[in-house]
Amino acid sequence: IFGEQRKNSAGINIDIESEWRPFSESIQTFRQHQWQAGPIVNGEILTGETLAITAPYDRREAVGSVVFANAEQVEKAISVAAEAYPSWSQLPAAERAQSISRLGDLLEAHTGELVALCHREAGKTIQDSIDEIREAVDFCRFYAAQAATDFAEPKQVIGFDGTTKLLSYQGRGVFACISPWNFPLAIFLGQVSAALAAGNTVIAKPAEQTSLIAFRAIELMLEAGVPAGVIQFVPGTGAEVGASLTSDPRIAGVAFTGSTETAQRINRTLAARDCEPAAFIAETGGQNAMIVDSTALPEQVVRDVVRSAFASAGQRCSALRVLFVQEDIADRITALIKGAMAELSVGRPELHSTDVGPVIDAGAREKLLTHIESLKNQAKVVAQAELGEACLHGDFVAPTAFEIGSIEMLKNENFGPILHIVRFKASELEQVIDQINNTGFGLTMGIHSRNERTYCHIERRARVGNCYINRDQVGAVVGVQPFGGQGLSGTGPKAGGPHYLYHFTKDVFNA
Ligand code: SER
Repeated sequence: IFGEQRKNSAGINIDIESEWRPFSESIQTFRQHQWQAGPIVNGEILTGETLAITAPYDRREAVGSVVFANAEQVEKAISVAAEAYPSWSQLPAAERAQSISRLGDLLEAHTGELVALCHREAGKTIQDSIDEIREAVDFCRFYAAQAATDFAEPKQVIGFDGTTKLLSYQGRGVFACISPWNFPLAIFLGQVSAALAAGNTVIAKPAEQTSLIAFRAIELMLEAGVPAGVIQFVPGTGAEVGASLTSDPRIAGVAFTGSTETAQRINRTLAARDCEPAAFIAETGGQNAMIVDSTALPEQVVRDVVRSAFASAGQRCSALRVLFVQEDIADRITALIKGAMAELSVGRPELHSTDVGPVIDAGAREKLLTHIESLKNQAKVVAQAELGEACLHGDFVAPTAFEIGSIEMLKNENFGPILHIVRFKASELEQVIDQINNTGFGLTMGIHSRNERTYCHIERRARVGNCYINRDQVGAVVGVQPFGGQGLSGTGPKAGGPHYLYHFTKDVFNA
């Protein structure tokens, strides 16, 4: 799985004309396309009232429509998945893995359409869309390969008394996979493919903002050979579909990625059920920091800060929110950040030249603008990127950097292109680490320093899931940087890592 023989998806290099041109033509085919989505229960697409979907970069552009699942359809989906569980869980792991791995191939074959969907429904730039499809393919292949090897045969456990026992891993039952809009294909399929590969049947509820992408993924999954009873698709809101799923006693486990508040709500709902406790895998928010000391290389720092804070319009749970800079080099770093932000091109995501696209919807935009307005009274604006005319009809937020007095001024995660900079004195390093740890979040941290003792020390003290040294802190690669947080940032299992699949199983020990 981690060996040289397994390779991640190559994607498409948009800087190479011979790779870019045919691919760009295939995206063009879907420029005007209208997609339709609805619940898929036992392989049947269900009908109902349709809701229009428009493009985040221009709300006048129609992208398609979706039918949300009603309570009766959710109920039916759970019954079908529960009925399909025994036979799916008893299939040899390699057989389950085959259809999941085939899905990876189908996703690659449909890259043009999926990229078009990612930028038209989710507002992702071309590069982010390509990366999204690559990551989804990698998750499918990675979990399929691991299930086929690790779950093929029971493991022999030799006791201290010399006897040999067998330990096997089985699915837990029906898993609800509740996924976010910021990785509408990668996280959506990461959760679903892991749950399926581990022997569970699945009810997939995508974020309501990105139902069309998820629907196409499920259609391809069925085409890849995953049986219709094994995967149910129930688009809808968290308040309705999510709540019906998590309160149902037939749900044996929940995989969730999204906000910390929603994870806490799901946890309470699961705990209130009068039945077998469910497995809960949650990956949530962060107040991710980067610490830069005076030995760091300023140009490298600024490149990594701009990517970590503003790429994907700051809508990654891993994104940099608070940059701590040692005061000796703070003026130089802020001047360089200002210069780099003046070069950022914010606009339509399908353009090759766009660095930052829109945020996901009007609600997200309002929240971010409220935060920017309130900080303008309490902090110094270091820089704000320009929004051109291309942004007039979409949900755009200008990338903005503030200098603030303390991380303690930030009560919540601000999920967008807003960077907060805090200066610190060399003597205050321990306090800085304490303050970051005291936020309670623990997802990513960046460190820029050429002093080995400093970065090793910070890394040891930081309570985070993923610590990145002298590089950016976004874009974890499947099988290379297992990804997941701790504390308020999640229950810990690391996606794309060696132990993730095991969290979807129960251990059966034959003594
Ligand atoms: N896995 C993503 C990253 O590393 C965040 O969800 O950026």
